[in-house]
Amino acid sequence: MAIKTVGIVGAGLMGSGIAQTAAQAGYDVLLAEVNQELLDKGMQRIHGAWQMLVGKGKVTEDQAAEYKGRVRGTLNLQDFADRDLVIEAIIENLDQKKALFRTLDGIVPAGHIIASNTSSLPIMEMAAVTTREDRVAGLHFFNPVPVMKLVEIVKSIATSDQTIEELRQFATSLGKTPIVAKDTAGFVVNFLLIPYMLSAIRMYENGVATMEDIDTGMKLGCGYPMGPFELLDYVGLDTTLYAAEAIYQEYPDPAYAPPTLLRRMVQAGRYGKKNGKGFYAGTDKDPSKK
Ligand code: 3HC
Repeated sequence: MAIKTVGIVGAGLMGSGIAQTAAQAGYDVLLAEVNQELLDKGMQRIHGAWQMLVGKGKVTEDQAAEYKGRVRGTLNLQDFADRDLVIEAIIENLDQKKALFRTLDGIVPAGHIIASNTSSLPIMEMAAVTTREDRVAGLHFFNPVPVMKLVEIVKSIATSDQTIEELRQFATSLGKTPIVAKDTAGFVVNFLLIPYMLSAIRMYENGVATMEDIDTGMKLGCGYPMGPFELLDYVGLDTTLYAAEAIYQEYPDPAYAPPTLLRRMVQAGRYGKKNGKGFYAGTDKDPSKK
């Protein structure tokens, strides 16, 4: 089935990034949120990105207007009844995702794919509440979505080969490179990335080096674009904690156990760049302010 219309649930950083990318690739995009304020914020982020690209001369005013015309917002999931593909990008909470999948299953036409952008939760649990488990898969994008080239396609034990093939074609049409992973916590990238970031926090807790020196070490020693603490702020401390907990639940290996400092930071409401409070965010050490 040729995918032409895309529905995205959740207009946060990931959902709005996916919407932006899909609109730029020519898809008709419908973006859903739970209230007008969050929807407006997501739409502003998308329009702001296009304005930035116009400013840099990468996109013309006409192109930006065309892209804008392809993204509409809605507060009503019933509007997803005409969507060829729906991508869920809400909070990393399995109960909420399952409730959403149950609702979407009653709205999105039978046989159409419903995918989750989860970073580490089991796809099979979401598929199991639907009547189309063969048409449910993971479609995991990376932040910032318009820039990062990778998409992980996650195949549950029930996902059909046809679904994987259609998602592979969709990801490629967005200019991304897809990789396919089994439905195990953390898939490929977060299974490697999360313990790396947790180890950096433990090193800092143990006084091995300062945050800045750990970051400089990884940037200049390994050529990473950001050090682990910059990346933690960027990805979100809450997101990292939820992903670590989800992986640790399936693999009780100490490498995935969230360090105390990460828990305390999240308990203190320090989520990173997204709310301006994190390891650097909100302090005079914020590298993006230098
Ligand atoms: N749309 C289109 N292009 C955009 C954009 C957007 N919304 N935002 C930025 N860009 C473009 C810019 O125009 C710029 O292009 P140019 O170089 O041609 O001018 C380019 O992207 C780089 O942007 P900046 O100049 O603003 O910033 P940097 O050069 O400092 O790069 C970065 C920023 C791309 C974020 C880089 O630091 C990086 O790659 N960091 C690592 C990010 C990473 O590891 N992400 C994965 C996180 S893990 C994850 O997401 C999984 C989750 O499950 C946890």
